[in-house]
Amino acid sequence: MVRSAPEPQELLEIAIEVAREAAATAYRMRVQGVSVAATKSTITDVVTAADRAAEQQVCEALRRLRPEDAVLGEEFGEAGTGDAAVRWIVDPIDGTVNYLYGVPHSAVSLAVEVDGTVVAGVVRNIVNGEEWTATAGHGAWRDGQRLRCSTELDLGQALVATGFGYDPRRREHQARVVAGLIPHVRDIRRLGAAALDLCFAAEGRVDAYFEKGLAAWDLAAGGLVATEAGLRVGGLAGTAAGPDLVIAAPPGLFAPLHDRLAALEAAGGP
Ligand code: IPD
Repeated sequence: MVRSAPEPQELLEIAIEVAREAAATAYRMRVQGVSVAATKSTITDVVTAADRAAEQQVCEALRRLRPEDAVLGEEFGEAGTGDAAVRWIVDPIDGTVNYLYGVPHSAVSLAVEVDGTVVAGVVRNIVNGEEWTATAGHGAWRDGQRLRCSTELDLGQALVATGFGYDPRRREHQARVVAGLIPHVRDIRRLGAAALDLCFAAEGRVDAYFEKGLAAWDLAAGGLVATEAGLRVGGLAGTAAGPDLVIAAPPGLFAPLHDRLAALEAAGGP
């Protein structure tokens, strides 16, 4: 029997339900008190019990609702069959350091790919419940409002968000890039959760965003929200956005930001 591909809207509804449950778990665990459960790439790259519990909950819910699909998660990696047409990509807590310190800026990010293309995604702020959604070709939304990105054209007037990885050598390079960029923009924001940075750009809370070193779970849902809100999302020199570099900027701002980042070798370094 040949199965027809599920509709993005149908997948989005599942994503929303599952992300809300995971966000509720993470919120409850934060109220009960949180501590570092382990470190990952470096001593500053932490994982809490809530990261694991929320991802576990997402995986179990998806296994129940969509047993044939694959899942890629930040904490537990790949699960499910390699030839599944549908793959879910989850960051159970994006902004883990904010979460650990009680800064109210962390999110569950859940996206779904069909045949390797992200078709739906949801990003939900764990603390204040703000929720961004998008389906491919049908726009980006928050609380019933369709989102449009900033129309800023002048890099000198642009508020630009970025982030830093956990490896000290990479951070040194990223800091040099920021030092070279900051004289040429309105200001820089380092808010601490890549998925939320992309959603903020989607509604013009910042004009643009860039970062080197994002993983698929940082980018998948927020990247779709940003694209559907009108941002151009890409890497350097016509490449796709990915681990080397993600630039998300309104179409008229993309080239000046891109060129400045290229001159600063933002995709280079460790
Ligand atoms: C991190 C955050 C941060 C970004 C890092 C990510 P995590 O994700 O999104 O803003 O700068 O590159 O790794 O570790 O909190 O899930």
